[in-house]
Amino acid sequence: MSSVSEPLVAVARRSGPLKGRLRAPGDKSMSHRALIFGLLAVGETRIEGLLEGEDVLATARACAALGAEVERLGEGSWRVRGVGVGGLRSPDAPLDFGNAGTGSRLMMGVVGGHPISATFDGDASLRSRPMRRILDPLALMGAEVTASAEGGRLPLTLKGPETALPITYETPMPSAQVKSAVLLAGLNAPGVTTVIEREATRDHTERMLRAFGAEVTVEPHGAHGRLIRLVGQPELKPAEVRVPADPSSAAFPLVAALIAPGSKVTLEGVMTNPLRTGLMLTLTEMGADITAENLREEGGEEVADLVVRAGPLKGVDVPPERAPTMIDEYPILAVAAAFAEGETRMRGLHELTVKESDRLAAVHAGLVANGVDARIEGDDLIVRGQARAPGGGAPVRTHLDHRIAMSFLVMGLGADAPVTVDDATMIATSFPTFLPLMTGLGAEMETKA
Ligand code: S3P
Repeated sequence: MSSVSEPLVAVARRSGPLKGRLRAPGDKSMSHRALIFGLLAVGETRIEGLLEGEDVLATARACAALGAEVERLGEGSWRVRGVGVGGLRSPDAPLDFGNAGTGSRLMMGVVGGHPISATFDGDASLRSRPMRRILDPLALMGAEVTASAEGGRLPLTLKGPETALPITYETPMPSAQVKSAVLLAGLNAPGVTTVIEREATRDHTERMLRAFGAEVTVEPHGAHGRLIRLVGQPELKPAEVRVPADPSSAAFPLVAALIAPGSKVTLEGVMTNPLRTGLMLTLTEMGADITAENLREEGGEEVADLVVRAGPLKGVDVPPERAPTMIDEYPILAVAAAFAEGETRMRGLHELTVKESDRLAAVHAGLVANGVDARIEGDDLIVRGQARAPGGGAPVRTHLDHRIAMSFLVMGLGADAPVTVDDATMIATSFPTFLPLMTGLGAEMETKA
């Protein structure tokens, strides 16, 4: 379905101090959700700071295909005229989500709660990713998969029930996507849908449900978990959503500034929702010089400007229960660990194996190829830094994974020899301005024709 473009090789080489200010693009998780809630509200939702990356644009097209009027007013500024919970129509053509796990899985929740049918498809990476984790709870709510590739993978056709059943569901793995799909389906179920998570995951769906006028309650559950209750069939009211900068994207210039000697970089307006700040906590434990300034609230989320200065890092032990708060940041944390002194053990990374690529394997391979002492033990990744720059010089396979591409380009800024990634095209899914913003800070990075 998605057009296959030529790979775009990119290279990064050791760079002088990085200096300046940068605003990472809008948060990807919130951008998908803002569009989807716009679709499910009656009337006009306005979004500012929307991430205009490929992943989110696919969600915007899907919202339009389900009945919303979606309009771009200017840079990051979008208007969605929604049809309301219960008001969706079956799309005429398959929905192509490209590389986007979040967009496709959240939208399965939406379709699975409505008496409509839609076909979901995507690129080779998305077609390889597990979807049963979404389809299983949706089946309990009455949805049916009428066609799919092997193992319930994409392409698949999902048909929602006449009336969705409200369920109580304990997510089998910590996943905001699974939680959100059940809650989105629950929006069109009569009665209360309950999701229990043993470990709290990012809560943008819950926050946005409330902002759009749904009745949601969230209680602690066990040591690290939450219990979320949603009253179904609300009339969602349109909202104004201001999307803060994505901490998962800001992570790349942040680590770049830590490892390029003499750097001082300010990252503006970064979301500091406590369920997203595991990387900042870990880097601080490693001795990173990061100061949060101008703490404020934007779009119902905590936000700060982060001032980052280069300096020595030391290895740490990262506990498994921290994983949900930094799940997308392990590739770049592993790069930071390669520049630190001593061993960093990142525990409990099983979920990394089912991201845009098998990130555990891809990160390990890229590190080892570039002369870093790294190993995998069970679900743990162990990186032994030597407090000096890694050798670099080796090509890295990115496996259609934007975060693998950006992580190893950042590594190249500090390595002895340049680091090349086999394909930088996927960076456009989440951070289309990555290269110009990084070179603007002084990073030596370029794509090769
Ligand atoms: C996301 C949840 C996480 C994360 C992804 C975005 C979301 O995935 O890795 O990039 O917006 O809900 P899982 O739900 O698979 O952990």
